[in-house]
Amino acid sequence: MKNGKLGYAVVGLGIGKAHVDAACQNPKCELVAVCDLIQEKMDKVVEKSPETKTYTDFDEMLKNPDIDIVSICVPSGMHADFSVRALEAGKHILCEKPIELTVERAMPIEEARIRTKKKAGIIFQNRNNACMRPMKDAIDSGRLGKVFCGTFAVKWYRDDNYYVGWHGTWDMDGGGSLINQSVHTVDLMQWLLGDVESVTSKMRIVDHKIETEDFTASLIQFKSGAVATFVSTTCAYPGICTAIQVYGTGGSIEADGDSLTAWKLRDADEDEEEDMLERYGQGNRMAAVLDPTLVSGHQSMVDDIIDAVLYDRDPQIMPMEAIKAVRIINAVYESAKTGKTIYFD
Ligand SMILES: NC(=O)c1ccc[n+]([C@@H]2O[C@H](COP(=O)([O-])OP(=O)(O)OC[C@H]3O[C@@H](n4cnc5c(N)ncnc54)[C@H](O)[C@@H]3O)[C@@H](O)[C@H]2O)c1
Repeated sequence: MKNGKLGYAVVGLGIGKAHVDAACQNPKCELVAVCDLIQEKMDKVVEKSPETKTYTDFDEMLKNPDIDIVSICVPSGMHADFSVRALEAGKHILCEKPIELTVERAMPIEEARIRTKKKAGIIFQNRNNACMRPMKDAIDSGRLGKVFCGTFAVKWYRDDNYYVGWHGTWDMDGGGSLINQSVHTVDLMQWLLGDVESVTSKMRIVDHKIETEDFTASLIQFKSGAVATFVSTTCAYPGICTAIQVYGTGGSIEADGDSLTAWKLRDADEDEEEDMLERYGQGNRMAAVLDPTLVSGHQSMVDDIIDAVLYDRDPQIMPMEAIKAVRIINAVYESAKTGKTIYFD
């Protein structure tokens, strides 16, 4: 604690800058420290937040007693190592997606959480996109009827300059377009449609000089009986859509990223579709203008871990929940490599 507030720290200042901004916006915490190998990145934080200490050595930062929560924003293949070190040092953590590269590599985070009795939240901020809650409610309440089909497609573009350093490597990224860009949508798919029964996939390297894939296509069978298709790519110039589409006997709901694009329910009255598209059709920003209580993006997840610590409750997304997407992704890669359908327990 510092000045009666929770002490917040961030390691890794790429997307970590969004955690820095969110912590600075939250009046219940103080940004006590940042850690990165590159001093200039930390200097930019200190320009705006002069009290914040900087560290190039993560273990040194963990010795700072003012720190209560650490956001883990280093490359994906370092998540378990950094998360476990922080938990063992007595800190709560908020770890970036994907929790780790494989289920086996992620489990030590869950084990350390249980051992240390600290809070461990994992980032999947797209669950808090404004249009996702009504979509989930329509499914869970039965309004969508028997959900038989989902189509999910992350058709993005990354040029060759993106694939330098750890991106597109098996040992640090754990894959390509699927685990890096599409893990959010894999998570939304399993959150909306439930437990997976089997996965059958193809993958290719289409347009980049990388060791992992830049295109996957999968058929996902769910235990409920529903079937979904899932496409991921970083070759769809110039970046076309993030399709999240579910179809049931009670109607059809479609979104593109954080914008609702279709709300067609059999039991809806005539104004409902228009109202829903007006409220959620232009993404988080417009939805928040209409309802100022809506908080999305990284802010929602940083606010959540702070409240989980303050009020001693579980964070929104715990390690075992975040691992579900990684299990599906690992199965996609195994299916594509072996040519076999992968069955879940
Ligand atoms: N939630 C999201 O929407 C989102 C978006 C982008 C990235 N991410 C995730 O965040 C993580 C980081 O991705 P990124 O795009 O910010 O990567 P990045 O390469 O831009 O940034 C990583 C930072 O970590 C620092 N770093 C590396 N090793 C370190 C060490 N030993 N000690 C201290 N700092 C170290 C690097 O110097 C760099 O500044 C990845 O797991 C990625 O999947 C999430």
